[in-house]
Amino acid sequence: MNAYLNGRFLPLADAKISVLDRGFVFGDGVYELVPVYSKKPFRLDEHLRRLQASLDGIRLANPHGIAEWRELILQLAALQDFADQSLYIQVTRGTPVAGQPPRDHAFPKDASPTVFMFAQPLVTSTPGQKAAGVCAVTAADNRWLRCNIKAISLLANILLRQQAVDADCAETVMLRDGFLTEGAASNIFVVKDGVLMAPPPSNLMLTGITYDVVLELAAAHGIPHEVRAIPEAEVRAADEVWMTSSTREIMAIVKLDGAPVGAGVPGPLAQRMDGLYQTYKQQVMRA
Ligand code: PDD
Repeated sequence: MNAYLNGRFLPLADAKISVLDRGFVFGDGVYELVPVYSKKPFRLDEHLRRLQASLDGIRLANPHGIAEWRELILQLAALQDFADQSLYIQVTRGTPVAGQPPRDHAFPKDASPTVFMFAQPLVTSTPGQKAAGVCAVTAADNRWLRCNIKAISLLANILLRQQAVDADCAETVMLRDGFLTEGAASNIFVVKDGVLMAPPPSNLMLTGITYDVVLELAAAHGIPHEVRAIPEAEVRAADEVWMTSSTREIMAIVKLDGAPVGAGVPGPLAQRMDGLYQTYKQQVMRA
């Protein structure tokens, strides 16, 4: 498995950084997760735009221009000996230079950002999971108020996701002040009476690249959809609930807090959208 660290391609096991890196000490950094199919990154420009927005959100200058990022990412993807990849990009505020306090909350002066990337084989949903759907639990969204930043400090998301794992489920669906926000590592859609619904992008959630693709496909194929605040009661009364992300793609949630969602099997719209998504993916990758 090959990695990239601060200007060098190298085996992942050889990639080393200082223990004083702001990412390690403070979780002071941002990341992206780009799905790569047949060594071609999917929706790369969109991921790079979101990376820029995250960097802007934490006041860290982007160490690379778009063309440079593209080149590095394509090279890294080409170096792997597996075709479908989950390509991780992380940028931290770097390591304080000599003469600066080794640990200080304030931004270090003259530090260069640390840029780290690696790819691992992409594990999407299995055919079994697709056919049967997955279960989820709900929890109060106790994260900070800047969830639109794809920050590496994921402690809240990890603790929330673990609640699902402890219940032998795939995801934790979060509610804040009585409204749906998102999953611990995914966006959440609900369907009622044939209408697809999603919460509007805001500081309370990360706008997924998959979320955008799903809404584009809904618009392109005449699927009725609404982007609006979704009260908890509507989540619990939904005919279908889906989780979406770059790695899980579109996955039907068929049980929520132990209660069946709709008929308790993946619904017709989830299956249709998954078909549209797979076709779209193939078209894009062939282009
Ligand atoms: N996470 N919301 C959160 C909190 C996420 O962590 C993710 C994805 C999404 C979906 O975004 P996208 O469709 O762009 O993958 C929404 C990635 C997969 C991760 O952290 O590994």
